[in-house]
Amino acid sequence: MVNTSSNTLQRSQVNKVIPILEKNYGNNLDSDYTEKIEELDKNFNYSSNSHAYWSEPENSLLYGTPLYEKASETQKLALNHLHWIIFYKGVADSEIELINYNTITADCLMAENNDYEMLVKLLANESFQERKHIHAFCQINYLTIKALLGKKALINSGADKFSCQDKNISVFPDIFSVVNSISNIMLKGREKYQSQNFRDWNKEGKIAPSTQGFFNGFSGKSTKSIQELLPLNWGSYPFLAANFYAVRYMANLALKNNEFPIHNYFRKLQKAQEFIPIPTAISHYHFLDEAFHTTTSLFLGRDFYKTLPKPSIYEKVMANLAVLQAQRNNLIALSGIVPNRFYNDGEAISFLMKLFQSPVFDMSAKEAIFWIEKCLCHEHDGFHINLKSHARLLSDLRKFAEQLDYLWPVNREMRVMASGGSIQKAIKNNIKAFSKFAQAL
Ligand SMILES: [Fe+2]
Ligand SMILES: [Fe+2]
Repeated sequence: MVNTSSNTLQRSQVNKVIPILEKNYGNNLDSDYTEKIEELDKNFNYSSNSHAYWSEPENSLLYGTPLYEKASETQKLALNHLHWIIFYKGVADSEIELINYNTITADCLMAENNDYEMLVKLLANESFQERKHIHAFCQINYLTIKALLGKKALINSGADKFSCQDKNISVFPDIFSVVNSISNIMLKGREKYQSQNFRDWNKEGKIAPSTQGFFNGFSGKSTKSIQELLPLNWGSYPFLAANFYAVRYMANLALKNNEFPIHNYFRKLQKAQEFIPIPTAISHYHFLDEAFHTTTSLFLGRDFYKTLPKPSIYEKVMANLAVLQAQRNNLIALSGIVPNRFYNDGEAISFLMKLFQSPVFDMSAKEAIFWIEKCLCHEHDGFHINLKSHARLLSDLRKFAEQLDYLWPVNREMRVMASGGSIQKAIKNNIKAFSKFAQAL
């Protein structure tokens, strides 16, 4: 009796979710936003776009800091452009990561039920669009960094990568080493769900790219084995394939938190018939393209898993670790210098040294250190503005997470992210990182 009613519930969920996704896929195919992005990408050069803001001034690097108050108009424009490229470097890395995961999870779901072929096509189309997005972001990133910071900045890390990372630091070394060993056992016997793509990429060690996006973690604090652990599971269990889309929805919300204001800025310029910089237009069309992807993530992550057989304890643990990892690696703190960035500023110190000594500010090393201390280690408006952004994203994430019945309270209430929303904590951590940096000089 119980089985029959749960089967009926599953069937009614399938009946509800698949037509919504089919419609979403059709609407996406009918749109031309990706083509518009491709065209804008081809036509970008920095000098034709350098005289205008690419987003509202409050979406600028160092906005609200004492240095921003003293900056010239040219420097303010550069800080606005740098925020755009830093933000979209993170987006490009996240999209490089999710292309693989779209494929292996689609294959995994197909293995569960041949009727899901539409999902495979829908996700392949989204991956195709991501490749065009990544190209545009990387192209603008490259040309802007070269123009603003000089060719030297492109050598080594690329100035957009905040360094000071220790790849060997793991946020949960003990839990994950145990889970890694269990996982090796649990993945045996799952071959039916693991596609040829999965096997090829796993054999070549390419299942998780070496990028610093949302899935590997913006903070650069997770190890290669942790980064591989989650996709190996996402591609082997249909329930976990659906869980990937819950994590992808978290990434979609984080993206929207920054991109929606740029979309509004685009509309404002359009209405006033003012010049629209190419990066602003790309953000606008990307926002529209991503609206389709966000719908996919929402229905696969929130509803579709209910159509699948009930998860085992192992699957529930892995799904919770995936959400926990997303919080720990992307949403653990509050930046006072980069709007919509929610991890420690300590990791940005070496980038700030480069920026302050570049042609944009032309400071001596002594002046650069002085300003780093001023911007990182004292309370200013930058922290307060970002705290509002933090609260908005936290509320959106909680609204979503409370609908997932398999989540632990730490995830359902986004407790890790919530604990990072503190200006005092952020400044305390910055003082620690700054002293370490000053001592090493
Ligand atoms: Fe995208
Ligand atoms: Fe996307």
